[in-house]
Amino acid sequence: METILTGEAIRDLGRWEGREATLRGWLVARRSGGKVCFLTVRDGTGLCQCVVEPSAAAAFTLAGELTPESSLTVTGVIRVEARAPGGYEMAVTRLHVLQRAVDYPITRKAHGIEFLMDHRHLWLRSARQTAILKIRHTIIRACREYFDRNGFTLVDTPILVSGAGEDRQSLFSVDYFGEPAQLTQTGQLHLETACMALGKVYCFGPTFRAEKSKTRRHLTEFWMIEPEIAFADVDEVMAVAESLICDVVARVLAAHATDLALLGRDLAALHEIRAPFPRLTYQEAMEVLRGPETRERLTREIETDRVRLSESIHQADELERQRAGETKAWKQEQLDQLIREARESIHELEQELAVKPQHLELAQNFEWGKDLGGSDETILSRRQPQPMFVTDYPREVKAFYMKAHPTDPRLVRNFDLLAPEGYGEIIGGSQREDDEAVLRANLASKGLNPEDYAWYLDLRKYGSVPHGGFGLGIERTVTWLCGLKHVRETIAYPRLMGRLRP
Ligand code: 4AD
Ligand code: MG
Repeated sequence: METILTGEAIRDLGRWEGREATLRGWLVARRSGGKVCFLTVRDGTGLCQCVVEPSAAAAFTLAGELTPESSLTVTGVIRVEARAPGGYEMAVTRLHVLQRAVDYPITRKAHGIEFLMDHRHLWLRSARQTAILKIRHTIIRACREYFDRNGFTLVDTPILVSGAGEDRQSLFSVDYFGEPAQLTQTGQLHLETACMALGKVYCFGPTFRAEKSKTRRHLTEFWMIEPEIAFADVDEVMAVAESLICDVVARVLAAHATDLALLGRDLAALHEIRAPFPRLTYQEAMEVLRGPETRERLTREIETDRVRLSESIHQADELERQRAGETKAWKQEQLDQLIREARESIHELEQELAVKPQHLELAQNFEWGKDLGGSDETILSRRQPQPMFVTDYPREVKAFYMKAHPTDPRLVRNFDLLAPEGYGEIIGGSQREDDEAVLRANLASKGLNPEDYAWYLDLRKYGSVPHGGFGLGIERTVTWLCGLKHVRETIAYPRLMGRLRP
């Protein structure tokens, strides 16, 4: 009788020690060592080293012809092997090839990012991409469970809408049976109506922004989880954001040590995350940006980058020299990898050095009334190891629905949460304007027609209460927790300006 492992298969290989099992998966790599053939097989839960000896004659012949990404089933006894990934391996007795893959386009050589993005449908199979997808899954689950546990009701808000939820500039238009419609920028406005019905609610769905900017932080389609709380002021809303983040970070750390290590994530930085998060008003943030502390810190960073750059160049040259004199194929491959890594870090440092002086310049000349730019957020969020709240922005740079500040009418009662290590904004939230007249005036001053928001204004007519909420961008959060450089790897199919396929 033979056993087939499905689903949990390779992750739980140890449970099958000493027994025969059949794995179903795909070939990652094949190599021969002495007389035997080693197959590395993946099944979505992990990697299994499968050893095929010449004595398993039929399997051995098949194994010798196997190509990367061929689909297969392998049968054999599971045994302990400290050197194998996961600590176990399979001694193969039988091998069945479901389909032999020919010329799989993603190879071990370095591919450029555009090539990989064009082959995203296959790139997803790589160890790095599967690790990111799993962490994303945990982040989403942790968010949902946080709200479910704390008495929030999930309400799904529409994706096809009429009118702006944030601003008029970044709307995608759709033809809705001849009537102009848009793809939603946020679930918030509809969610507020449900909040007045249920008290504590959240929505989670795709949101769209026609952002004509190519940055490491912007997608045109991204997923946002948004809670909304009746009778809450901005401080209560911030407390929820803070405890949600602590919860999510703890969940990711508990479940993904191996995945994070594979991504090269600095775990110490994540272990440091704990409440309370520091709070700065917009005014204070501006003073930091303009002040001597920022000038000194960035000047120091630039010096350190220069030193690291010359070290990396030296190291790459040294590796190239070794590579030129190397004759063993496996050593050459190892050196090629190291050279690629050195070249990458040279490229990154050169890019940093090219922009940092401009970023410093922008920060030092920051003027009251401007929104914080990406580089300003980077500077602010590198100051401390904790995520940081920036509150009370000028109303001009923020959406129409934000509550006026009680003592300074130029400001609104809002907050952004900036993730540390330079990641920047991952949450935007606010208390909402609950006064009908003020809200009408806000709409008009943003060039929006109050008639289009009649249903939204109704909330301020029939039992208006103080309330507020926020939106957490899933992809930005994944970028931060995985320690990635760009948001494009955080979703299976990123939609960016100039990227709609596959
Ligand atoms: O700050 P934003 O625009 O806030 C809102 O949409 C509010 N209506 C939310 C609310 O109060 N219910 O967006 C919230 C978050 C940002 O902090 C960021 O994480 C993410 O959504 N986000 C984006 N992520 C990727 N690409 C983009 N273009 C994004 N725009 C916003
Ligand atoms: Mg925002």
